[in-house]
Amino acid sequence: MQSSTNQRLWSTKAKTLDPYVPGEQPKHDNLCKLNTNENPFPPSPKVSQAIEEVLVNQATALRLYPEPESDKLRDTLAKTYGLQREQVFVGNGSDEVLALVFACFFMQGDGKLASAKPLFTPDISYSFYPVYGMTFDVERKVIPLADDFSVNVDDYIHADEDCGGIIIANPNAPTGLLMSLADIETLCNARPDSVVVIDEAYIDFAVVEGKSGLKVGSAVNLIEKYDNLVVTQTFSKSRSLAGLRVGMAFANPSLIEALTRMKNSFNSYPLDRLAQAGAIASLEDSDYFSHVCQQVIRLRDELVQALTLLEFKVLESHANFVFVKPPTSIVEGNSEQLASVLREQGIIVRYFNKPRISDYLRITIGTKEQNDRLLESLQALSKSQQKSEENTETSKMTNNTTNKRDDLRFFLKCYNANTGKSKTYRFDNQDALAEFAKKANSKGLTIVDTHITFLGVELLFAPISEEDSVITATDINFAEDGSYCLNEWAKSFN
Ligand SMILES: Cc1ncc(COP(=O)(O)O)c(C=O)c1O
Repeated sequence: MQSSTNQRLWSTKAKTLDPYVPGEQPKHDNLCKLNTNENPFPPSPKVSQAIEEVLVNQATALRLYPEPESDKLRDTLAKTYGLQREQVFVGNGSDEVLALVFACFFMQGDGKLASAKPLFTPDISYSFYPVYGMTFDVERKVIPLADDFSVNVDDYIHADEDCGGIIIANPNAPTGLLMSLADIETLCNARPDSVVVIDEAYIDFAVVEGKSGLKVGSAVNLIEKYDNLVVTQTFSKSRSLAGLRVGMAFANPSLIEALTRMKNSFNSYPLDRLAQAGAIASLEDSDYFSHVCQQVIRLRDELVQALTLLEFKVLESHANFVFVKPPTSIVEGNSEQLASVLREQGIIVRYFNKPRISDYLRITIGTKEQNDRLLESLQALSKSQQKSEENTETSKMTNNTTNKRDDLRFFLKCYNANTGKSKTYRFDNQDALAEFAKKANSKGLTIVDTHITFLGVELLFAPISEEDSVITATDINFAEDGSYCLNEWAKSFN
């Protein structure tokens, strides 16, 4: 086979694209996956029933093409949101819907709508927008969020450039902050000749009355009033159906017609039969939907409280994730390092190496068990950092004053990639530890943390939460001077 780096036959566009990088989808289930804002609860049981019913009819099930315009699903959506079918568009996830939105309303160079006028978009928002901008040659004017990460609507109204469209996620990602409906109306009014897109991927987790007393929540009903407004939503988050790939847009019928034309110039059947049936069943089980949203909101509030107690800075979240800045008491407040320490412990969160937000982490709301596992790790990290600071002095003193080697204990915390679990091993001497460490790799274990205790007090390094098996207890072999021992031991693992 030819080398895959041979780009001779690629189009210029394919060569210049900088594709979106989705969050990690790990290969095994034992990880605590808090990185891609999926719902921690399963979809309504009626969804799988509906899918099974489609499959039962072997004669038609997967042999025939699906209904191209997904009319039944659009009718069910229209009924759910009090709209007409002509105001509803569906696609293969809201990512696809957004791509078609860019192609329909923002694409440059057509000499007509939006030509050479930039799309206005916040500097911190969903990372797919710049990618679509590149794919569809859409020039963008990036408008910085305020210092508190809120959207300043005036910046969109009074910008000098002509506006070729506006796209804002509400609640915003990854901040979780929410704009008021009044602000959205202001944008629609101020830019009547541009399409204003409000990406409501997370809106079902937003509280209806904002703290400010301003009316917040979904802008779907505003489409009756503003013919330049497009609201997109998804089944991936609040309806636990990220794997089914269903997203939608609500807008004035003429904008929906444009989307349909674009869809039919690209893929006439974006939603398969199973997706259409599953999405309808999900909409029909409104009790289950409300229950799941309430559970996620409750778990979010609990997590926010616990993280605040741990001195995290937590932005006010209206989504199924929290955007947080760790305190210096945890891995010295280094978010990237914290994400990687948590990863080693089997917990995945999302770190963005981007200006203004590189001190933050985005953490998806998990089940109670998942959130507790995260909090336990953070608590242990917080304690160990405090202890190691306190013990720096103790350690120096100990090294100079005592040779009570029998009371030294050595620990290795290992992550097992096969089981996704971490375990701490205790050793009575450094040789036993070194012996084990040598073999760790071949056993599929990665060494995550190392530390030493003296008379039960931690002298060095990071935490343990559980003490386990004593591997062996052979002779202790280190210098009389405790500090020499610790340094030598530490060096052997560098
Ligand atoms: C703001 C925002 N919009 C849209 C999407 C895309 O959702 P989907 O394609 O799963 O419907 C996401 C996914 O994470 C998102 O965060």
